Amino acid sequence: MSELLKVRDLHVTFVTPDRTVHAVNGVSFDVRRGETLGILGESGSGKSVTLRSILRLHPEHRTRWSGSIEVEGEDVLKMGGRALSDLRGRRVSMIFQEPATAFDPVFTIGQQIAETVRRHTGKSEADAMKRAKDLLEMVRIPSPAQRLKAYPHEMSGGMRQRAMIALALSCNPSLLLADEPTTALDATVQIQVLLLIRELQREFDLGVIFVTHDIGVAVEVSDRVGVMYAGKLVELASVEQMVDAPQHPYSRGLLASTVHDGMRGQRLEAIPGAPPDLSDKPTGCSFAARCKFAQPGCTAAVPDLRSTGADHLVRCVLAEAA
Ligand SMILES: Nc1ncnc2c1ncn2[C@@H]1O[C@H](COP(=O)(O)OP(=O)(O)O)[C@@H](O)[C@H]1O
Ligand SMILES: [Mg+2]
Repeated sequence: MSELLKVRDLHVTFVTPDRTVHAVNGVSFDVRRGETLGILGESGSGKSVTLRSILRLHPEHRTRWSGSIEVEGEDVLKMGGRALSDLRGRRVSMIFQEPATAFDPVFTIGQQIAETVRRHTGKSEADAMKRAKDLLEMVRIPSPAQRLKAYPHEMSGGMRQRAMIALALSCNPSLLLADEPTTALDATVQIQVLLLIRELQREFDLGVIFVTHDIGVAVEVSDRVGVMYAGKLVELASVEQMVDAPQHPYSRGLLASTVHDGMRGQRLEAIPGAPPDLSDKPTGCSFAARCKFAQPGCTAAVPDLRSTGADHLVRCVLAEAA
C-alpha cells in the first residue's frame, strides 16, 4: 500500500467579525491506496472541516490554514486554480449525507453523470452516456438503462445515494472522501450502501476516508480508525486495536463497553459533559475537563501523540509508550 494522502499538522481557523473558531488544531494522518480510514467523533469535533480541507472547499477569505495536505506528493494548500480544479474533478471525489446537493433536480441522473464524464474525459455525448450506464450498473442500480432517464426525485434515498457514488467515481478518483454518507438511510439500506462502498474501494484500490459519528459504521468500514475530539485526533489505530484495546480515556469511554456485533446506530453520548468552546485556543488536553483520570499536568501542555504499539498513536499523558 503506497501513500496517497499525507496530512501534517493541519490547523484550520475560521475568522468572522464576531468570532474566531479553531476548528482543526494540529491533525496529522496518512491514507494509503486501498485502505479505508474511519474518522469517528461527536458532532462539532472537526471531522467535516478536516475532510473539506482536502478539497480546499472552505471560504478562502475567512479561513486560515497551516500545515500541509499532500495528495500524491502535491500540497493542496499551495495549489493554484488549475491544479485545484484537477484535484477536485479527477483525483479526489466526495460523497455526503444529502445526495440532493450533488444532483440538480431539473436534469436526469444520466444527463448529470454523462456531463461530468464529458467534462473530464472529452468523450462524445453517446460514449459519455454509455459510461454513465456502466457506472449505474457498477453501483448495482437495477435496470440502469431506464434509471439513466430518471430525475433525482424519482429515486429512493438509497438509489440516489448509489447514483451519487456513481457520480463520484465517474472520473476514476484515487481518493474518495465520504462524509456521513449513510447517516440519513434506514438500517438495511445503510448496510447495503456500506458494503457497496467497501466493494468498490477494493475493486478500484481506492483510498477512502469515511467520516461518521456512528461507532458501528466506523468499525464496519474501516481498516484504521482515528478518533477526533475538539479538532484533534486523540487516537489513531487499526480497527482491531481500537476495538480491543482503545487507550485514550475518550476512546475508551466511547468504545470499550459498547463495541459488539449489531451495534450500528450507536450514538456517541456516553460521556458526561460537553466538548470545549472552539473559540478558545486549546491549552493542554481538550478532554481533561471531562476526563475521570485527569491529573494536574493534563492542562499544562497539549500532550504529544505518542506511539503505544505498531501503528497505534495516542494523545494522552497516561498512555503507555511501546
Ligand atoms: N465555514 C465555517 N465558518 C465558521 N465555523 C465553521 C465553519 N465550518 C465549520 N465551522 C465550525 O467548526 C467546528 C467543527 O465543525 P465540523 O467539522 O462541521 O464538525 P463535525 O465533526 O460535526 O463534522 C464547529 O464548531 C463548526 O461550527
Ligand atoms: Mg460533519
